[in-house]
Amino acid sequence: MVNVKTSEEVKKIAEASRIVALVLRELSNSVKAGMSTEDINIMAEDMLKKYGAKPAFKGYRGYPASICVSINDEIVHGIPSPQRIIQDGDIVSLDFGVQMQGFFGDAAVTVPVGRVSVKAEHLLKTTKESLFLAVKEAKVGNRLFDISSAVQECAESNGFSVVRDFVGHGIGRALHEDPQIPNYGQRGKGIKLEKGMVFAIEPMINEGDYRIKIDADGWTARTADGSLSAHFEHTIVVDYEHGIVLSQVN
Ligand code: MF3
Ligand code: CO
Repeated sequence: MVNVKTSEEVKKIAEASRIVALVLRELSNSVKAGMSTEDINIMAEDMLKKYGAKPAFKGYRGYPASICVSINDEIVHGIPSPQRIIQDGDIVSLDFGVQMQGFFGDAAVTVPVGRVSVKAEHLLKTTKESLFLAVKEAKVGNRLFDISSAVQECAESNGFSVVRDFVGHGIGRALHEDPQIPNYGQRGKGIKLEKGMVFAIEPMINEGDYRIKIDADGWTARTADGSLSAHFEHTIVVDYEHGIVLSQVN
């Protein structure tokens, strides 16, 4: 069941999402070659303490860290490790969620480290653009898969592919609520969108084939063909003109 949030509930989701945005902004500016992915996890946890918020991912289905850090061909759910060192030219996805006052916020960005390839730049730009286009579709009167198809059209028209195995989701009192929001689908299909529905929209786009494989750690998802993958995510609320991004700070 897809529920509509009250304005009080949206406010609390917005507060959680704001913390997510503040942390991601700080981390994006801090990611440097030579750092370990665990360094990033530690920074995220330190900032959370300052804001008095709880990590949403730690302990979720046994996930061991507060943030997911996924590099290059890793799509999502990379587990931070002191052994994993970020290199010049990497693209690094940071996926982060918090819980505050009983409500969740969730967002992700992929950042280039140092000089990255032209292809990597194009992938990042396209994935970010697909999220922006998807958020535009999150408006009253539209259907759920208008969001999905916006991502798919953007990705595929740029020669990339859309990951099938992971989806966006409703969010609120739980990290994952209904509906599931695939990043592919047919315009005009799916539930009708209503003001106050809150979604985490999260395109995961591969440079090559969309197929994935999961590492022996049971978490890290990577492209089956070894090509690059990018991930951007925002928590948004459906409104009349377009979705309103909650996980953003200016
Ligand atoms: N943004 C991802 C999602 O919504 C993060 C979940 S990671 C997990 O699925 F560790 F919590 F599983
Ligand atoms: Co999410």
